[in-house]
Amino acid sequence: MPVAKNTRKIGLGLLGSGTVGEALQDLLFRDLGKRLGADLELEIVKIYTRRPQGKKWYAKHRALFTSSAEEVIDHPRVDILVEALGSQQEKQLQTYKSYIIRAFEKGKSVVTSDKAVLARFGKEIWSAAERCGRELRFEACVGGGIPIIRSLTESFAAEEPESIYGIVNGTCNYILSEMRRSGKSYDAALREAQERGYAESDPKADTAGLDAEAKLILLAGVTFGVYLQPGIVWRKGIEEIQAIDFLYADRKGRCTIKPLAAARREDDVLSGFVAPVLVPHDHFLATIDGATNAIFFKGKRSAGGDGARDWNYVFVGPGAGGGPTAVAILGDVCELARRRGSYRITDSASRYTGQHLATALTGAGKALTVKPADQIAAPFYIRFLVKDRPGIVGDICQTFGKMAINVSEIWQLSHGESELRELAKSHRLSEKPGRMLPFVITLERATAGQIRTALDIIGRKDYLLVEPVWFPIWRN
Ligand SMILES: NC(=O)c1ccc[n+]([C@@H]2O[C@H](COP(=O)([O-])OP(=O)(O)OC[C@H]3O[C@@H](n4cnc5c(N)ncnc54)[C@H](OP(=O)(O)O)[C@@H]3O)[C@@H](O)[C@H]2O)c1
Repeated sequence: MPVAKNTRKIGLGLLGSGTVGEALQDLLFRDLGKRLGADLELEIVKIYTRRPQGKKWYAKHRALFTSSAEEVIDHPRVDILVEALGSQQEKQLQTYKSYIIRAFEKGKSVVTSDKAVLARFGKEIWSAAERCGRELRFEACVGGGIPIIRSLTESFAAEEPESIYGIVNGTCNYILSEMRRSGKSYDAALREAQERGYAESDPKADTAGLDAEAKLILLAGVTFGVYLQPGIVWRKGIEEIQAIDFLYADRKGRCTIKPLAAARREDDVLSGFVAPVLVPHDHFLATIDGATNAIFFKGKRSAGGDGARDWNYVFVGPGAGGGPTAVAILGDVCELARRRGSYRITDSASRYTGQHLATALTGAGKALTVKPADQIAAPFYIRFLVKDRPGIVGDICQTFGKMAINVSEIWQLSHGESELRELAKSHRLSEKPGRMLPFVITLERATAGQIRTALDIIGRKDYLLVEPVWFPIWRN
């Protein structure tokens, strides 16, 4: 295709040639993303990866690859740096942070898909962007290809936010969906997710809720202008859940179990959590299966003479994968590029400057306080597995009663021998099926701290076979 007269070339420097980095190269080298309207041509100038040899596009574009990140960042033809590196290690995240800050100092703006570095070092990174008058875009960090950050910062500027919640980790949703669908154990569903490329060989960042926590930090920052420091929200992984929990959820609670991240504002207090949650079958989130993400935004706004009304929005789409993530990165790149070189964070020509988050991360946020993790309150589901002998249910209920926690219901199912054998296997127990008793107690609204204290007391009893499995029950 001939190049139009007024076409501007924008040079991209790319840090990372993993799933996301290569998907971005696929788009640009295959000319799909190269010509984005007649006015713009995006060109990859340099690519950093530790071992260029063997990378998909190395043979064809050998000169673009380097094993020096600085060479990419400092290259004079790089206008925008795309950071698509991955790690959960503190030292590595520090290095990635220094790359981003170096880019700002060299006069470049940055687009990143790396939520871990932003969640951990967001304050420093944002201050550096402000100091240098550069921009940082991070649409690809949350919800893969779903344009959630842009919507929250741009389209909902007039909304008074009440809550943001949903399924933000496709790996956990895939595992739980498979357990529900086929009755697989947690280990079997995880293995399958790994075989299909939905889970890493070390899946802990996903299954322990760290990935969802990083996304929640960004969502809450953009929505409420509050920076939830890593470790401050209540976080529970999905690793304890077993197939039997889906039986109780379905047959007794008419619910399923979904991996949720949520931040909710009540007056001047913001509470956030990441946890598996018992969700009613008739809630839209219950229908979101596999690696798909779904994020709800609930706001309030003055609706003419009707006064304030609640509004619910839901965003659904591919929450991960190289392709959708690369598309989200390119969306950010195009927006930056179309500003004709004026990438300043204070540029009033654009509404989309991540202003809420900038305020949150630089510490000038609104006076919202963050609820301590132990005070997160909800109704709870607790599944016990005990030695089958009389008096145990009563003893447990008494303990809750002493802690002023109200028991709502006691759920018991009759289990066949093979079901119990499977349960013992998934908990790595040698107990004979006939000597095991599973049951569920649901509790009225209590705090996570109260439940933990009660379970500490119950944990000292000799009748427990495994640690109780507990998580919240969804209430709108
Ligand atoms: N995959 C997705 O669906 C998805 C979706 C949204 C956001 N993200 C985020 O995007 C980023 C990249 O994800 P990905 O799926 O492309 O990950 P990936 O396939 O594991 O690739 C990771 C990249 O990070 C680099 N890297 C890892 N450890 C490193 C180290 N110690 N030193 C230097 N470089 C190192 C790798 O370098 P080499 O090339 O040298 O191996 C590779 O380029 C991550 O932050 C991830 O959370 C991913």
